[in-house]
Amino acid sequence: MQVAPSGAGVVDRRQVIQAYRENRNRTRELFEMLTPDAYYEQPIPLRHPVVFYDGHIPAFAVNAFLKRGLGHPGVDGDLEVLFARGIDPADGTAASASAVRSWPSRDAVRRYAEQADDAILSALASAPVEGEENPVLRRGQGVFTILEHEEMHQETLLYMWHRLDPRFKRRPAGYEPAGVAESAPARREMVTIPAGRATLGASTTQVRFGWDNEFPFLRVDVPAFAIDVHDVTNAEYLGYDDPALWSPAAWRRRQEAGRAYPLFWERSDGDWFWRGMFGRVPLPQGWPVYVTHDEASAFARWKGRRLPTEAEYHRAAFGTPDGSERAHPWGAAPPDETRGNFDFRYRDPVPVGSFPAGASAWGVHDLAGNGWEWTSTPFAGFPGFEAMASYPEYSADFFDGEHFVVKGASPATARGLVRRSFRNWFRPHYPYAYATFRCAGDTQ
Ligand code: AVJ
Ligand code: FE
Repeated sequence: MQVAPSGAGVVDRRQVIQAYRENRNRTRELFEMLTPDAYYEQPIPLRHPVVFYDGHIPAFAVNAFLKRGLGHPGVDGDLEVLFARGIDPADGTAASASAVRSWPSRDAVRRYAEQADDAILSALASAPVEGEENPVLRRGQGVFTILEHEEMHQETLLYMWHRLDPRFKRRPAGYEPAGVAESAPARREMVTIPAGRATLGASTTQVRFGWDNEFPFLRVDVPAFAIDVHDVTNAEYLGYDDPALWSPAAWRRRQEAGRAYPLFWERSDGDWFWRGMFGRVPLPQGWPVYVTHDEASAFARWKGRRLPTEAEYHRAAFGTPDGSERAHPWGAAPPDETRGNFDFRYRDPVPVGSFPAGASAWGVHDLAGNGWEWTSTPFAGFPGFEAMASYPEYSADFFDGEHFVVKGASPATARGLVRRSFRNWFRPHYPYAYATFRCAGDTQ
């Protein structure tokens, strides 16, 4: 392929072509984890079936980058409408209302994806992908939008695959989840984080790319508070079930879901199991518990504590005793496999505290990796928020008080998304995501 010179901007054509190819390969591998008969399965009733994501990832790239950015006519107008957007219904009734009655064949979707990939790769090689006139092309926004969008959906795919019956999955030979037999950590400690300043978000020149909700940065003065050094484990959560601690709205959602314990837990003959990616394992005592915001909040209340705010998460993760702020909990070094359980290395969690080299300046563990961290902060834009040109609906559609910020990363989060300003969000009763929590408390 002929690759035109990149010019002086932020887009390095060779690098983004390689990143696009690596993304497509990883997505292909994720689809190859499934048997072909899983293609029209709908593992999560609140999401489209598997087929949608096979088409959505390339169609989104065509819509956001080729069409909006470059004025390209697109590859297949009908498919680019069908595959334009996922759904985030509040409940099953709303989900049925947005159900699609008939999906294209797998061959048709794969043919479409190949054509879309060809068009995108040739644009990445020689089209004017960066420029000032069209806001989609400023600082290469369209290019990075499609790269990170695919990475985020690789996580969606994995937590969807998690819900599929194991007969739909090809289990890698010799696959064993890590650290199942290890026991829970002996000590449940909290540390006090003194009052100080947290910088949420980023300025546009500080990061190569960020989603609209990361800008502009916001400085927050955070009073002193205490926070758990480790995430709440399965063992600790096992001791709790008290309906009196749920808010009326959360209790109504729990009754509607008809589920009294975490979705990742299964009970059989009086024993507890964890539903792993490829099958059950006896409930690993030392793994972080994966729960909803509703479940996490009720547990924290039971402990006489609360969830940390987004700003408190920042203080615990990036603050330091001298008042400076780090890029990552462990410092300035890039996220690698010594720092936490992210970037698809494991298909399941590992025991809390397994990555001491990833601890923050205050000795708080696993703030990036091993499960997103629930906060008590409703998802909203920072003052001065502006919707992004490449995908204006990305965040703004969710500034509704019905979603909460999660920070950090899970085992299925690409390392490129592990950055201080990255913000993720889910509904408070969404039980499918790889999300855990720790408790915070006030200090007197
Ligand atoms: C930011 C992870 C909540 O999965 O719904 C993907 C990301 N938005 N396509 C989601 C997203 C559009 C989004 N989250
Ligand atoms: Fe999407």
